[in-house]
Amino acid sequence: SYNGLALTPPMGFNDWAGFECNSQMNETLFTKTADQMVSLGLDKLGYDYVNIDDCWMQKDRDANGNLQVDASRFPHGMKWLGDYIHSKGLKFGIYEDAGYYTCQGAAGSYGHFQQDADLYASWGVDYLKLDYCYQQLDQFPGKSQSEVAQIVYTEASQALLNTGRPMEFSESAPAYVCCEGPDFENELTWLYQHGNLWRFGSDIYNAWPSVLENYSEGNTPGLAKWAGPGHWNDADMLEIGNGGLTLTEEQTQMTLWAEMASPILLSTDLSKLTPAELAIVANPDVVAVDQDRLGAQGTIVQSGAGYDVLAKPLAGGDVSVVLFNKGDTAQTVSTTAAAVGLPGGGAPFQVTDLVNKTQTASDGVFSAALAPHATAIYRVHAGGDKHLPIAASASVGTA
Ligand code: DGJ
Repeated sequence: SYNGLALTPPMGFNDWAGFECNSQMNETLFTKTADQMVSLGLDKLGYDYVNIDDCWMQKDRDANGNLQVDASRFPHGMKWLGDYIHSKGLKFGIYEDAGYYTCQGAAGSYGHFQQDADLYASWGVDYLKLDYCYQQLDQFPGKSQSEVAQIVYTEASQALLNTGRPMEFSESAPAYVCCEGPDFENELTWLYQHGNLWRFGSDIYNAWPSVLENYSEGNTPGLAKWAGPGHWNDADMLEIGNGGLTLTEEQTQMTLWAEMASPILLSTDLSKLTPAELAIVANPDVVAVDQDRLGAQGTIVQSGAGYDVLAKPLAGGDVSVVLFNKGDTAQTVSTTAAAVGLPGGGAPFQVTDLVNKTQTASDGVFSAALAPHATAIYRVHAGGDKHLPIAASASVGTA
């Protein structure tokens, strides 16, 4: 990684999907979230970032050109909030925009990258998400969108490095040219050289079609190869807890995001997560797939009518296999050891269902009866325990 950070995908919280710029988007949301990340034990699982999105700043800079905090939302200021978050053993993330304004019309960072980076460092910021509304293409006549993005994101990245404070860097540029064409292709070639993660596609919203859309964009051919330790394709926030997904769909979002090695940024009132929702986000075996140190992004290895099979190679040789019923009717989805890249001679395979916590042995066919929108996620180990009973299928959901 260009700055030695994000060797596994970032995990934590970002307020945007759950709160946007509503009245709850204030200091209390972030101190309470930090408290809850610790009291729920999420920090122990790797959830360590508490990140602020748009609307923390005013429309204008001060007389010295410094960004000004919206004091009605953050009365104690950002240094105080950063100290609070750090006092919980967590890390502090903030948001700006590489263009003239943020998407919500507050002061953008363009022309002030170093000044702003120094300000973040003085506040103890550990992570910057740099959005890309109000692009300054007019400043660079004759240059393509991706060329301009490269210039400004490189400059902003260098400004962060210049502070000497380690800060993870999240780049939003490709989301604005998603997901095909020369600008998108070109951006992918340079993003990882000075950023740790990048939003490649649509803004997530609180409904099933959005999960499906971001999942599809995340499986744009050629995208997965840009993921690895230090640099990740960001499928956007988790909508778990926000009321727009069924419990099955919430599990599916978590499963798919982990399989894609996406950052896992929760975006809801953590105090209102039901026990079942908490079990989804705090499932250590699914988190371990996301956080696997090999850093491979899982890809679709087999597709059929209303279903996909994904495989993610894991450190040590296991493979995480996801069977996904994308359709609206129940179906059994099956795949084989060969299809997911396991050695044919590896039978019996030890198959661990990471959600239901069952373990079976398999001769090399993995299947699940899946309710609509449901997934199964298995960790498959070649040469498994011969004493386990051979089971042809596992069952998930209510199919
Ligand atoms: C667009 C981004 O994609 C969102 O995640 C969020 O940061 C908003 N801008 C904020 O205005």
